[in-house]
Amino acid sequence: MSLINPKTVVGAIGVAILMGGVAGAQAQDPIVIKFSHVVAENTPKGQGAKMFAEEVKEKLGDRVKVEVYPNSSLYGDGKEMEALLLGDVQMLAPSLAKFEQYSPSLQLYDLPFLFDDINAVDRFQHSDDGQGLLDSMQDRNIQGLAYWHNGMKQLSANKPLREPKDARGLKFRVQASDVLDEQFKELRAVPRKMSFGEVYQALQTGVVNGQENTWSNIYSQKMHEVQPYITESNHGIIDYMVITNADFWNGLPDDIRSQLEDILVDVTEKVNKQAYDLNQEAKQSIVDAGTSEIIQLTPEQREEWREAVRPVWEKFQGDIGEDLIKAAESANQSDSTQSETSQ
Ligand code: LMR
Repeated sequence: MSLINPKTVVGAIGVAILMGGVAGAQAQDPIVIKFSHVVAENTPKGQGAKMFAEEVKEKLGDRVKVEVYPNSSLYGDGKEMEALLLGDVQMLAPSLAKFEQYSPSLQLYDLPFLFDDINAVDRFQHSDDGQGLLDSMQDRNIQGLAYWHNGMKQLSANKPLREPKDARGLKFRVQASDVLDEQFKELRAVPRKMSFGEVYQALQTGVVNGQENTWSNIYSQKMHEVQPYITESNHGIIDYMVITNADFWNGLPDDIRSQLEDILVDVTEKVNKQAYDLNQEAKQSIVDAGTSEIIQLTPEQREEWREAVRPVWEKFQGDIGEDLIKAAESANQSDSTQSETSQ
């Protein structure tokens, strides 16, 4: 009788194959996440993408690699969503103004003068309604993972804008958003939808006369060099939704997905804490550069701007939903529970 039990041999071979398989899997190339965005690295989103890549490297180095492509270097506006849906990139963080064709409710965030400040935006985003919007594009295979702040928008132009009538007839670059398009039409100005990467040149060559953006975007794109006047209007927001291709995300091994989610929670907290300061630093750099007069509005003037663009709300409330607008407005009362970002 043989001392070797054939069943044991078969079992051992099976285990060896299995072990080889596991070892082979471990030696495999890491999962690559391409994270594309359109802004400079020294902005809230630029920093966020960088922090995310670094933290993934530290915690999941041999299993996941995040490649960040800033400044429209891989895809610009318009093309990046298409690339996400085709699986050519795996993560993006477009501004909330760029989702209208995927989720009409997200047009909420473009309503002018909706939020008093970034803390109100933060409170709304933490609410059930705000969180629910992260799932509003699932039927289009897009999963929202987090909100990242940039900040409040300012108006810049080649002439001083103090009252709504000052904007009449001027051409303004807008993001790909019908709400923002309408906002400028209410001012009897001429909106031009245009990719972010084209704005500087359009301002420089006079294709447009003005634009709206945050201090950090204005400074990092050098727009102040070609915009002699910036009105500190704080009339709207630029914030982001970090998104992924839902099939890609759901197909990740559970342990990797949950670690990536934890890393995102951590990075989101850091991005949202430093966004306000980054914008204030950018504002100071513009002041120091001395290129642009910064115009402060009196409370009465600000009220005039608010009234001039208010009809936009009625035009879009059907698409967005009245209840959602009310919920967002109520975030301006600071008696809700969320911790405040530094403002
Ligand atoms: C813009 O197009 O002005 C912004 O959405 C750019 C950005 O991503 O901050």
